[in-house]
Amino acid sequence: MITTSILNNIAGLLLFYSDIALIFAILLVVAGVLGLIHAVRIKTINELSRKLEKTVQEKTAEFINLSSKLQILNSAIEAEKEYYRVIIDSIEEGLIALDLEGNIVLVNKSAENILGIKEENIKNFQLFNLFQSILEDKDKPKSKYFDISDFDRFIPMKNEQMIIHAKDEKRKILQVNSSEIKEDDAIRGVVFIFKDKTELVAIENQLVVSQKMESIGQLAEGIAHEINTPLQYISDNINFLGHAFFYMKEYISFIKETLDKLAPPDEIKKMIEDKEKEYNLEYLEEEIPDALEQTHIGIQRVSRIVLSMKDFAHPGIKAKSYCDLNHGIEVTTNITRNKWKYVADLELELDPKLPNVYCSLDQINQVILNLILNSVDAIGEKIKAGLYEKGTIRIKTENREKDVEIVIWDNGIGIKEENLHRIFDPFYTTKEAGKGTGQGLAICHDIIVNKHNGRILINSRYKEGTKFIIRLPNSEGAF
Ligand SMILES: Nc1ncnc2c1ncn2[C@@H]1O[C@H](COP(=O)(O)OP(=O)(O)OP(=O)(O)O)[C@@H](O)[C@H]1O
Ligand SMILES: [Mg+2]
Repeated sequence: MITTSILNNIAGLLLFYSDIALIFAILLVVAGVLGLIHAVRIKTINELSRKLEKTVQEKTAEFINLSSKLQILNSAIEAEKEYYRVIIDSIEEGLIALDLEGNIVLVNKSAENILGIKEENIKNFQLFNLFQSILEDKDKPKSKYFDISDFDRFIPMKNEQMIIHAKDEKRKILQVNSSEIKEDDAIRGVVFIFKDKTELVAIENQLVVSQKMESIGQLAEGIAHEINTPLQYISDNINFLGHAFFYMKEYISFIKETLDKLAPPDEIKKMIEDKEKEYNLEYLEEEIPDALEQTHIGIQRVSRIVLSMKDFAHPGIKAKSYCDLNHGIEVTTNITRNKWKYVADLELELDPKLPNVYCSLDQINQVILNLILNSVDAIGEKIKAGLYEKGTIRIKTENREKDVEIVIWDNGIGIKEENLHRIFDPFYTTKEAGKGTGQGLAICHDIIVNKHNGRILINSRYKEGTKFIIRLPNSEGAF
């Protein structure tokens, strides 16, 4: 019994331990499996991380490659932008572009130069206000073209001409065009393009004047010839009448003296006195010499006009040589001192480096003289109008590259814009009858342009003053 129970117990124990061993074995197997799984997992993770690392490396290389491509592209775009900027800055026309809000987004170099303002300052303006401030009075209404505050009211310009007083104090004639900037039919802004036509207009005017002068010159020659012959005998006859009147007067005095000596009866004396009164003899004796003298002066004046008309028609054969213009100007201002010293101060700014100029100094002096006399008259008019008591005349010479420049400026009454195109016309004068013949500037033009291959330009503002600019080639036949 005992043995049985021991055996039972042993069996029980063995059973118990075999269970434990089984469990233990199972646990071992599980642990082994888990370890295996872990090892597999670690391996996979390592592989994955290697792959990932590789991918990251590849992507980083790709990214670096892309970013350097982007950099190259960026600098190419910048270079392109710079290139277009250079092109835009190189064009002669001024260019200003605005966006839809009216902000100035682009200003080229020519626009800065023409308007006389730096780009950053232009950008501080509303374009409308800018043009409102620089347009000449009569052109001020044209500033409406620059108003794009309301886009529906935008009026495009086609070769619109306008005069500005640029911020650099220069008066300029602009030709302006404007249009919308469109991209795929959508409006992106507005662009204004303008050209400085000042010099061109001056040259065109000069060309017109030259052509006019040529035909007038031929006409003048014919007229001068026709007038000259009758003028000659009118002058001879007036001289003859002067002498004849003198002898007649002498003869009458002789008769009167002889009669006095004969002591005629009172009745005869009275008859003679009555006749003298009837014919107003005393008055005639006084007035006839004056009338003859005035006629003589008038004839001399007409002769001078005729002579200058002839001179004008025939190119002068006066010899040219290399001359000191500064000296010529000094001499001319001295000769005319008596004319200007009561009404004006005369300032000379003569360039000491002025080269001798190939010209006929007599003729150039005549030009300077005519211009000084015109300035004196213009200043005189301003004094008469009570605008000041004394004016200023300034004469300046300057050695430029291809030519020499003489500027004669005065702050006299100036010339009304509508008369500017007529001032070189022969016989055009605004001076009272007998004071001006209107030939001064026609002669100046002829001397400078036709006889010296030079240029004469004018700049004038009514009530402010006048500037004549003469340019003479500083070597034979230049220009
Ligand atoms: N410096 C000036 N300032 C204002 N007006 C001027 C000036 N120079 C010329 N003018 C105008 O131009 C016109 C023509 O000048 P121009 O010298 O040809 O003739 P003029 O002076 O009238 O007569 P002339 O010179 O024959 O005696 C003048 O009458 C005047 O109206
Ligand atoms: Mg004159």
